[in-house]
Amino acid sequence: MTERETRRLSPDAGGVAEAAAILEQGGLVAFPTETVYGLGADAGNGRAVAGIYAAKGRPSFNPLIVHVLDAESAERLAEVPRQAADLMDAFWPGPLTLVLRAREGAGLSPLVMAGLPTVALRAPAHPLARDLLREVGRPLAAPSANPSGRVSPTTAQHVLAGLDGRIDAVLDGGACPVGVESTILALDPVPRLLRAGGLPVEALEAALGERIAMDTSPERVAAPGQMASHYAPEGSLRLEALAPEPGEVMLGFGEVPGRLTLSASGDLQEAAANLFGHLHALDAMGAGRIAVAPIPDRGLGRAINDRLRRAAAPRG
Ligand code: TXA
Ligand code: MG
Repeated sequence: MTERETRRLSPDAGGVAEAAAILEQGGLVAFPTETVYGLGADAGNGRAVAGIYAAKGRPSFNPLIVHVLDAESAERLAEVPRQAADLMDAFWPGPLTLVLRAREGAGLSPLVMAGLPTVALRAPAHPLARDLLREVGRPLAAPSANPSGRVSPTTAQHVLAGLDGRIDAVLDGGACPVGVESTILALDPVPRLLRAGGLPVEALEAALGERIAMDTSPERVAAPGQMASHYAPEGSLRLEALAPEPGEVMLGFGEVPGRLTLSASGDLQEAAANLFGHLHALDAMGAGRIAVAPIPDRGLGRAINDRLRRAAAPRG
């Protein structure tokens, strides 16, 4: 995380164009949605997405919501079953996030999904968010624009109070009209409520013509990194390794070389961007035993180590 000047952009065509230019270069821009301010980055740029985690100071990787303009853009990123299409028709743009199976090769950074096979998609209704998505022409990863552990911001002042100097810009669109986060529904394929939010669940039930099971256990929503379904490689992991033992495949970092390397230069943002892609690649090459180089336990390194320790823990 590098200190930088955080620019305040005005809610007009010029401000939106500036914001889009920063995002296209891999920068971080907070922008208003109808629910809360999001901290946006190009969802296809792993380094930029890693920057979101660094700016928020998250000690773990949580999957992020990907913002799109409409159902058609969603269709390019995920498999959209009939029920999901109906809900998009009824409630998009608006405060509804749908968790769907991601399409492989759609260009999303695996870090956006924290390695999961599903992606959370939402089409925001705020005119500035829509102008920005149109101008960038790419999906934007955007969690709420607050430091980890703090409440979601509903004004540009809130954003700056938490993230000034840690992000490139905030697009100031005044107060968010809804003020609470989006409702999150998983459809895999049975509908499951993951987070109550701006769209009442009754409205979803009326649209689907069925009751929706609540899955709002704190672990499920606050820390999906602890979910049993969370991504872990098939192979076993040995952490803090300086060299591979016979039969091990080495995942390197910095001075410690490997078959795959998270970052040869020891750059934690690059390492975060590569983490899930490399774990998947090790699975794909059939690595049964993986030795992982030590990662410094500071900044993004804490989130990387958290993920590696979970993946290394004995599984039942
Ligand atoms: O209203 C909102 O949804 C705001 C605005 C900016 O759009 N965004 C927001 O994002 O609240 P965030 O990152 O603070 O919350 C995202 C939630 C997290 O609890 C995360 O665990 C969940 O969405 N989530 C994202 N992808 C998921 C997935 N594939 N499976 C399960 N949960 C997922
Ligand atoms: Mg949040």
